[in-house]
Parts: sequence; structure tokens; C-alpha cells
Amino acid sequence: MSDTFDFSSLVVDIPDYPEPGVVFKDITPLFADPKGFHALVSDIAEHFQGAGITKVVGPEARGFMTGAPVAYELGAGFIPVRKPGKLPRKTRSIGYELEYGTDSLEIHADAVCSNDRVLIVDDLIATGGTAAATGKLIQDLGAQLVGYACILELAFLNPREALAQAGNQELYSLITVH
Ligand code: PRP
Ligand code: MG
Repeated sequence: MSDTFDFSSLVVDIPDYPEPGVVFKDITPLFADPKGFHALVSDIAEHFQGAGITKVVGPEARGFMTGAPVAYELGAGFIPVRKPGKLPRKTRSIGYELEYGTDSLEIHADAVCSNDRVLIVDDLIATGGTAAATGKLIQDLGAQLVGYACILELAFLNPREALAQAGNQELYSLITVH
């Protein structure tokens, strides 16, 4: 974690959004702040510098805004993981559990290969369902999953248990909420 930037000061709690009883963590002020945006991207990239990352994978939609600049900073490619029906070529898909019901995610089947060393980046890891499903997609395609990074980890939802199902790769978070 960065010693030089107080990321938490630019993440705003929004009570009762999107429904009563839920406290939404709004990261848009952090992205809107030039110093904050720069710090979050360089902190994550610095942590994985030297890990030989060839591709950063980000799940739609907030994983795009977080992952793409990290990929650029690392000199890696960026691969989108999308909600169903959005990718034009042959895809691999995976279903995952939500609090109520299920959803699925897709990746282009040729997006990564066995030579790739992959970092998965998202804004928030809560239950870990999205990240774990993305990790399984990467491994299904035969690429090497190096780890996960996020701005905010909701540790009280035990996401590391969900991620462990996709292997014991590292999770690096800028902010941990206990
Ligand atoms: C949010 C967030 C993460 C995911 C975390 O995405 O951006 O991707 O939930 O939750 P989990 O760890 O319990 O899976 P959301 O599905 O709301 O969509 P968005 O990124 O398109 O806003
Ligand atoms: Mg998301």
C-alpha cells in the first residue's frame, strides 16, 4: 500500500445506495482527482513491476477504468472481460453467483494464451465472485494467473476465500475495509 497517498480520503460512502441498508463505496472522486488517479495507477503498477505481466484483464465496467491505465503503465496489453453478448468474436464464458441469482462474464477465446502472465484488476473486490470467475476464465484459456489487484477490498465479505477456489494467487488492495 502507498505511504504517500491517502486513497480513503477520496472514496465516499453513499448510504442506502443502490438499496436501503447498503453503503456504496463511490470511487469516482478518486478517479476525478489528478493526483489520486495517478497515485492509484502507479501504486498498483509498481507493486507488479518485475512480475513479467504481459496482460492486464479488467471486468466490465469499472475494471476497464482501473485496469487499462495499469496495463499502460506496466507496458502490458489490456483485455476486457464483458457482460454477455458484447464481444464480437468467439468467446469463453463463465457463470457466477450473485447475492440474488447468477450472472455471467465473457472473454474472447484467443485473448490470452499459455505464454501470458496475467494480472486481474478491478475497482472493488467484495464477495470475490467477479474476480474469481475472471480468474477461472484466464486459467481455462491456459494462461498463467499471477494475481489480483483492486482499489478497495471488502475483507468482511471474505473475498480471499472465493479467490482461493481459483488458486492461491496474490490479492493486492490499496484499501482494506474490515
Ligand atoms: C462491482 C465492482 C466489481 C464487483 C465486485 O461491479 O465493480 O466488479 O461488483 O463485487 P463481487 O466481488 O461481489 O463480485 P458491478 O457488477 O456492480 O458492475 P460495474 O463494474 O459494471 O459497475
Ligand atoms: Mg465491476
